[in-house]
Amino acid sequence: MDLSNRTVLIVGGTSGIGRELARRFVAAGSTVAVGGRSPQALSELAEEGFGTISIDVTDSASVASARDAALARYPDLDTVVTMSGVMLLEDLRDPAHFEAAETTIDTNLLGTIRVIDAFTPHLVQRGAGTFITVTSGIAFLPFPPMPTYAASKAAVHAYSEALRAQLDGTGVDVVELVPPAVATAGQEKVNPHALPLDDFATEVMDLLGTEPTPREILVDRVRVHRWAERDGAYDELVAQRSQALAMLPSRQGQR
Ligand SMILES: NC(=O)c1ccc[n+]([C@@H]2O[C@H](COP(=O)([O-])OP(=O)(O)OC[C@H]3O[C@@H](n4cnc5c(N)ncnc54)[C@H](OP(=O)(O)O)[C@@H]3O)[C@@H](O)[C@H]2O)c1
Repeated sequence: MDLSNRTVLIVGGTSGIGRELARRFVAAGSTVAVGGRSPQALSELAEEGFGTISIDVTDSASVASARDAALARYPDLDTVVTMSGVMLLEDLRDPAHFEAAETTIDTNLLGTIRVIDAFTPHLVQRGAGTFITVTSGIAFLPFPPMPTYAASKAAVHAYSEALRAQLDGTGVDVVELVPPAVATAGQEKVNPHALPLDDFATEVMDLLGTEPTPREILVDRVRVHRWAERDGAYDELVAQRSQALAMLPSRQGQR
């Protein structure tokens, strides 16, 4: 993918991975708008020179008006990144987890679908463009403290595969970004060994820039998770990751 002259909207670009990739796309020569809910983050990014779009991916009306605003300002929009996501811990022994499960599915899965639906007619009509969906190593190797998160990302993986097949022949590509644990505000609390954001972004931009762009963007660190089942490491790694259940507040001091 040529990264030097794209017009990119990163939905979920107000912090973390999305914000860093927004900066990297600009550094590579592309025009970038970022979307999200936080008015403060949006106004800081506007001061930095980004186009900004207010959007809540859990609200179809908000997604539609964000789409209209984005296309009015960027009629040549060719790349849409569905980065918005929440990463919530859940204790499945406590029925109160259901609220987190609903938020997770509404944001990570339905939010992705809402954004893709909103921009598909534009990209198909252009006859060229790219959706970049965002899953996780956890889509392929569950992390037991975040069960609905794992389910939502496995679902986005499956959805991305089907979307790619359905858009075949339209000129619209689907690229799935599969991050490992990356040291953003959300992850640092959960995993002190997370990959530094800078290193992750550098590797992602290198992989995105290859010709032809891979269907899945897999940095080195995530390959062990992506291929755990194929490589026979799945059961052992899930058992290892289950030790992290001790981090659930309700399990502190229990076995
Ligand atoms: N960090 C990791 O270790 C890791 C690993 C694998 C996958 N990922 C995935 O990478 C993506 C970014 O994660 P991150 O670590 O960069 O987290 P982050 O810093 O918390 O960023 C999350 C982004 O999602 C946006 N967002 C959340 N709810 C939204 C909503 N209802 N509507 C619109 N935007 C919403 C946030 O913007 P507002 O708050 O402004 O709305 C923010 O821009 C997520 O999909 C995450 O699951 C992260």
